[in-house]
Amino acid sequence: MIVARTRAELAAARAGLREPVGAVFTMGGLHDGHTALLRAARRECASVVATLFVNPTQFESERDATTYPRDEAADLRRFAAEAVDVAFAPPVHEVYAPGSAAQVGAGRLGRMLEGASRPGHFDGVATVVARLLELTRPACSYFGQKDWQQTRVVRQVVEDLALGVAVRVVGTVRDGQGLALGTRNVRLSDAGREAARVIHRALSAGADAWRRGERGADRLERTMRQEMGAEAGVTVDYAVARDPLSLDTLNPETAAVALLVAVWVEDVRLIDNLVLGEGLVDIDPAPLLAGPASATGGGQSLP
Ligand code: PAJ
Repeated sequence: MIVARTRAELAAARAGLREPVGAVFTMGGLHDGHTALLRAARRECASVVATLFVNPTQFESERDATTYPRDEAADLRRFAAEAVDVAFAPPVHEVYAPGSAAQVGAGRLGRMLEGASRPGHFDGVATVVARLLELTRPACSYFGQKDWQQTRVVRQVVEDLALGVAVRVVGTVRDGQGLALGTRNVRLSDAGREAARVIHRALSAGADAWRRGERGADRLERTMRQEMGAEAGVTVDYAVARDPLSLDTLNPETAAVALLVAVWVEDVRLIDNLVLGEGLVDIDPAPLLAGPASATGGGQSLP
């Protein structure tokens, strides 16, 4: 595995890769959710480029960015174990040169839900993803369903800028009790993790109601909120039922729904979702993680 620190090193390493190239972008703090993306890329592409970059422009405060969990050595080991060909782990000035100004806006999609609670977050995501796609020039890129709204923003950026890269969505990887794996989960106490399990129960209750034929967004939302309301220590930011593509108001005629939840547990913001409907999530992570190379274990995907 080549570790590139600069744009020039990346370009040199990139030139030697067999096509098609798959790309996985991460902020490190790797877990089996990231592993599923790396394995999907490995399976579908001749070469894999993975990035480790805690993007300062998508954090609301510098403090949030500087305290983001980091262990670069462990992350690079995991990349190597997943047969990544090139790891790009640049310092900030290689992605944002001093005086660099070009930004990509996430627009309307970026202002709702996560974007409403974290103003500017998706403009930062759109900007860094556009830059990383330009630098790595993959045929195919892999993103996690866990951040469903992010996948919608990324697809819009790719279309708007005609980047000509495929965007593949890998289903959410959860622990045995349904908690979606997340880098920030390490900040939860045991009690916090236990409380956080209510998120998946709430989403499942919403999904059950949907499968029974409930199409009223307000009733689906009430079902999810009721479930979470019973859990002390969980503060709900939003629990909504939306159109999965536009993230707008649910159309009762539609055959698809995104149930999206954001909560606070012990000062940690947690998000999760279930997306019901045909063809919205491209890759099931379960078979990818079932293989023997899953040395870290623990990951398991629930419906
Ligand atoms: P990060 O949170 O490190 O996530 C990197 C990728 O892993 C994202 O596509 C995310 O959706 C996916 N992922 C995280 N947890 C997952 C899980 N439990 N199951 C499946 N996939 C999961 O998302 C970002 O970084 C950044 O915003 C980034 C895209 C790298 C831009 O800075």
